[in-house]
Amino acid sequence: MNDSYLNFVNSPFGARLARSLGLPKPEVLHRYRADRPEFDGLIAIGAGREPHLLDALANLVASVGMTSVAHESAGLWVPLANRHGLMTGRFEPAESGSHGKLTALLFDASGIEDSSQLEPLHGFFHDTLRSLGKCGRIIVLGRPPETCATPRQWTAQRALEGLTRSLGKEARRGITANLVYVEQGAENGIEATLRFFLSPRSAYVSGQVVRVGVRAGADALQALDWNQPLAGRRAVVTGAARGIGASIASVLAAEGAHVIGIDIPSAREALDSTMRQLNGTALAFDIAAPEAPAQIAAALDEQGVDIVVHNAGITKDKTIAKMTDAAWQSVIDINLSAQERIDDALLAAGILRDGGRIIGVSSISGIAGNLGQTNYAASKAGVIGRVQSMAPHLRARGITINAVAPGFIETQMTAKIPLTIREAGRRMNSMSQGGQPVDVAQTIAWLAHPGSAGVSGQIVRVCGQSLIGA
Ligand SMILES: NC(=O)c1ccc[n+]([C@@H]2O[C@H](COP(=O)([O-])OP(=O)(O)OC[C@H]3O[C@@H](n4cnc5c(N)ncnc54)[C@H](O)[C@@H]3O)[C@@H](O)[C@H]2O)c1
Repeated sequence: MNDSYLNFVNSPFGARLARSLGLPKPEVLHRYRADRPEFDGLIAIGAGREPHLLDALANLVASVGMTSVAHESAGLWVPLANRHGLMTGRFEPAESGSHGKLTALLFDASGIEDSSQLEPLHGFFHDTLRSLGKCGRIIVLGRPPETCATPRQWTAQRALEGLTRSLGKEARRGITANLVYVEQGAENGIEATLRFFLSPRSAYVSGQVVRVGVRAGADALQALDWNQPLAGRRAVVTGAARGIGASIASVLAAEGAHVIGIDIPSAREALDSTMRQLNGTALAFDIAAPEAPAQIAAALDEQGVDIVVHNAGITKDKTIAKMTDAAWQSVIDINLSAQERIDDALLAAGILRDGGRIIGVSSISGIAGNLGQTNYAASKAGVIGRVQSMAPHLRARGITINAVAPGFIETQMTAKIPLTIREAGRRMNSMSQGGQPVDVAQTIAWLAHPGSAGVSGQIVRVCGQSLIGA
């Protein structure tokens, strides 16, 4: 869908008018394009006391071919960078007029054990934030507070959340800020996650906190193909005929997966056309039909499947006093119970292979609740519960389960919202705009990545840091 305000304020006349009237000017976000370099420019790196992740950061910078400069807070970084043959130089704080020198700011806060040691975060971001260019990236790295040895360490690590989310709200200009908590021992399994948060693929993901844990398979990263990471894998996507589902199918196929798209029989034509373009397979099933799990299992059985994306979803909005039983039931059934039944069938028969991925599509409505959406919000909160409850059970088989929670995404679903509510939904986030289906799809592709074996039980909002439920 078209955001005419964003287009207008990014035209020369509109930009002048917005400036003179003091209107917000949403940035045209830099999104991933196969014909442009994914990573370029200069990264500034800072660190607190005894940082544990500098090796992993050095590997990342070398692997993506970017250049780094050390901030004085990262005294340890310089010898380490020299060891890795990376160019370093002392970073000079922005003079007026030198905005936009940097494309990313990374801070290793993993060694901070006490609130009194948080000061280097202030020093680093104070000196560097104004030099970060449009659509720049901020990544803070820490240790999961709940794994910390002492209450003081837990407290200091938890403080990173407030800092990171505030940076996202202050930075604006299409800049994202995210926090990655790395469990001790998972240091070698963070590259896929850091690449995602550094890349234009995460254009609409900001203010998020992600945990990377130790998982079987996380060591096999050397063998990863970063261009076609899903080559040889099979992915099921429900609701693939249009909107976000069609975009998920397209991104997974571009990463090398064979996609099996499922949608209701009445959407068969659109589904066939989407799948034909991707050399995928179309299955016209109503996922909520009682026979659907067995039919889907039978259709997949011979070759199995590696990735299941539960995207199909509907809304039937009414305040609860006016909501019919049928409207309640169909939303819960399609958005939540059908996923449980399908997963049960695929897991019981081993059709979803060990090391596989399950990814649900929740919503910020499932986090914050929403007027007129008791059924929808219940179903989407249930998706979150499912992720959290299933993750430990699936761990032994190396299967991860995560969900994305989109905010306002420009689709046919949101085009139906009345204009004033739609305009408010679009603007009430740090990016002052709605997201695109591809933003959700790219986040799902990261969760589906073989290098995301340590990411499980996570809910990642794709909402431009929406104020709703933040
Ligand atoms: N658009 C947004 O802003 C937004 C925000 C938060 C969450 N979401 C979620 O993202 C997902 C996709 O949303 P969208 O905006 O692309 O919606 P959409 O209505 O454009 O597409 C949904 C697809 O699911 C299919 N579907 C519905 N019921 C089905 C069933 N019983 N069996 C098989 N397929 C079925 C539809 O035919 C359609 O192709 C949904 O789960 C939705 O709740 C969307």
